[in-house]
Amino acid sequence: MKEKIEEILAEIENFKAAKASDIEDARVKWLGKKGEITALFDEFRTIAPESKREFGQKLNLLKKAATDKIEQLKASGLDAIASKGAAFDLTKPGDALPLGSRHPVSIVREEIVEIFRKFGYDVAEGPEVEDDYHVFEALNFPPDHPAREMQDTFFVTDKDQSNPILLRTHTSSVQVRCMENMKLPIRVICPGRVFRNEAISARAHCIFHQVEGLYVDEGVTFADMKQAILLFAREMFGPDTQIRMRPSYFPFTEPSAEVDVSCNICHGKGCNICKGTGWLEILGCGMVDPNVLKASGIDPQKYSGFAFGMGIERIAMLKWQVKDLRNYFENDLRFLKEFETNI
Ligand code: DAH
Repeated sequence: MKEKIEEILAEIENFKAAKASDIEDARVKWLGKKGEITALFDEFRTIAPESKREFGQKLNLLKKAATDKIEQLKASGLDAIASKGAAFDLTKPGDALPLGSRHPVSIVREEIVEIFRKFGYDVAEGPEVEDDYHVFEALNFPPDHPAREMQDTFFVTDKDQSNPILLRTHTSSVQVRCMENMKLPIRVICPGRVFRNEAISARAHCIFHQVEGLYVDEGVTFADMKQAILLFAREMFGPDTQIRMRPSYFPFTEPSAEVDVSCNICHGKGCNICKGTGWLEILGCGMVDPNVLKASGIDPQKYSGFAFGMGIERIAMLKWQVKDLRNYFENDLRFLKEFETNI
């Protein structure tokens, strides 16, 4: 045992590492589970009691010498190896990692939020898993409205129980939460993900994104709404953009309208993006129905407001002429990389 200890000790003293892996190899050889020093410790258990003191000390010193040597080599190893210049060149620039790009839906969402933030709107978010009250009832949907059917809405709890839990079908539910919780006047923009029980195709998806807007104060008029939407459209699609409003119906607004912007591809001449009409539909809007204000405890005699909602994917499709909605969800790098310059 004595000779073996001296032999290893000499080896430790003379050991030199030429490359980083030599240090690890030496550690395994001496101190690994099946290493030489480890084996000596096993052998130590079997030696005569009177020799234990002497060999115990020697063995501990040997183990310490090996550990110190490894530590010392590790600490100085890179410098020593680099100064030899053989193994690798530390001054060589690394390989650049490819940068990711922002998703087109995120780019457009931030653009919309930024435009309204400049007009003084706050940003609010609400839960994606909602109850019937916030998605339908407080928004003046009658109990038998078709949007509440299973073929349109994903229910989390039994649809026939009172106030079932469901995945929100629009971000209008966040309007209700804002009216319940925020101090008047309210000027807020609510981006988020919504869910509808739709078959997936180029033009429809069961998950998509919307931005909801809401403005409630004393004396808010339809003219205020028209001006806010016109300013938004010009920021988003360019300063020459025109808008037009068509009468429409939503349970939560009265009167309601759908808004088209002049086609920014053909500038009104008619092309295949606007299907020859010169106009592109971008959002729904209207004056908040008095019943909706009342449901959230706001006095409709004193206050009025407007609301609007738009699909983010739809705006992005118009902006970049994306023809198939499924592109937004498939994470195909060839598609996503097209937006690299928009970081
Ligand atoms: N919630 C409607 C939808 O999902 C969009 C909408 C229309 C929101 C009119 C509004 C509005 O706030 O006033 O299609």
